[in-house]
Amino acid sequence: TAKLKQKTQFTDGICDGIWFNARIAPAGNPLQTISNATIVVRDGVIAWMGSQPEMPAEFANLDIPRHDVAGKWITPGLIDCHTHLVYGGTRADEFALRLAGASYEEIARQGGGIVSTVRATRTADEEMLFQQAARRLQPLLAEGVMTIEIKSGYGLDLETERKMLRVARRLGEHYPVEVVTTFLGAHALPPEYTGRADDYINLVCDVMLPTLHSEGLVDAVDVFCENIGFSLAQSERVFATASQLGLPVKMHADQLSNLGGSQLAARYQALSVDHLEHLSEADIIALKQSGTCAVLLPGAYYFIRETRLPPIALLRQYEIPMAIATDHNPGTSPTTSLLLMLNMACTLFKLTAAEALMGVTGHAARALGKADTHGLLAVGRAADFVMWDVDSLAELAYWSGFNPCSAVVRGGVVQ
Ligand code: NIG
Ligand code: FE
Repeated sequence: TAKLKQKTQFTDGICDGIWFNARIAPAGNPLQTISNATIVVRDGVIAWMGSQPEMPAEFANLDIPRHDVAGKWITPGLIDCHTHLVYGGTRADEFALRLAGASYEEIARQGGGIVSTVRATRTADEEMLFQQAARRLQPLLAEGVMTIEIKSGYGLDLETERKMLRVARRLGEHYPVEVVTTFLGAHALPPEYTGRADDYINLVCDVMLPTLHSEGLVDAVDVFCENIGFSLAQSERVFATASQLGLPVKMHADQLSNLGGSQLAARYQALSVDHLEHLSEADIIALKQSGTCAVLLPGAYYFIRETRLPPIALLRQYEIPMAIATDHNPGTSPTTSLLLMLNMACTLFKLTAAEALMGVTGHAARALGKADTHGLLAVGRAADFVMWDVDSLAELAYWSGFNPCSAVVRGGVVQ
């Protein structure tokens, strides 16, 4: 068929092509754009990009496929820099309890919450976890997500944490998306360690993290520093172990209370601190000094019906890079739309549409420590970009439940 032929053409041509008649936001910043733009791709890499009239003659005569973009917008591939995509079961029953009046914290204290997903994840086999996560991954990919961070943390024992991270890696092998794995062994206290949190942290630091790291399964390390998670001292032990192994750290910080987590994270040069509803100005000053990103998670704010807003105006004032992510997870953010998070970051957190878009491109790249390679279209970088059938980039944050992504190009190959 014609479609098959087209596909062969691109793969045989080893990812060469010229995309013309586009409007490009190279840094995902709607304030810095190129109109009547062209991208020339050679061997999967951007060889030239700019305004069509300025294209050097050497590219004009190339015998490679040409694509008329018809005025569509092109941005870097989107990055979902905080997810818990791999897990067993759902928490729809817990949602009902919360609607009947129970709080997220109360449910967690009564042995539900994260621990109920741990039970379901321990009993699920690897293939089932893969299939279920793949079903949730696909709608994200359809929205132009090309890089996704996936955390462990619903195993809380070596075997199940390994199983989750292996599934995360496999997703990146089977789907056109780059997966960044984060070990979140310190997510909750497993039931078999009740009353022995320090012993569990010993297990995390002495066994789980070094083992999984040696197996190549860990790109970064995260901790849930919270009253219903782990204390400051326990969080620090995990960070110290990660640092010894040369792994970057991040933190679920200041979501339900302020334990001082963000300042600890800053001391360990964390890539990001995430959630931040209870972040203070002193914390923000520490983040500024360490170059740590703030990751905002409007899906979780919305779904647990939080009323305290993260301190957006202060983050803006101190010019802390703000990323936005789905935080996809079964308990606090069962969403499969990153674009909806742009919309909610604007409506709930009052970000501008421009800030929201940078939050899932350049700033999300920073939150993953990948600003040198991701979140920006430039000559010499991979030809990973998304085409949007919109009149203005503000539409990426404007719609809710509508997907204007018209094509995804990865390494110069139309997906
Ligand atoms: O990002 N806060 C901790 N971790 C997740 C929720 C996990 C869960 O409830 O299953 C979060 O909100
Ligand atoms: Fe999370």
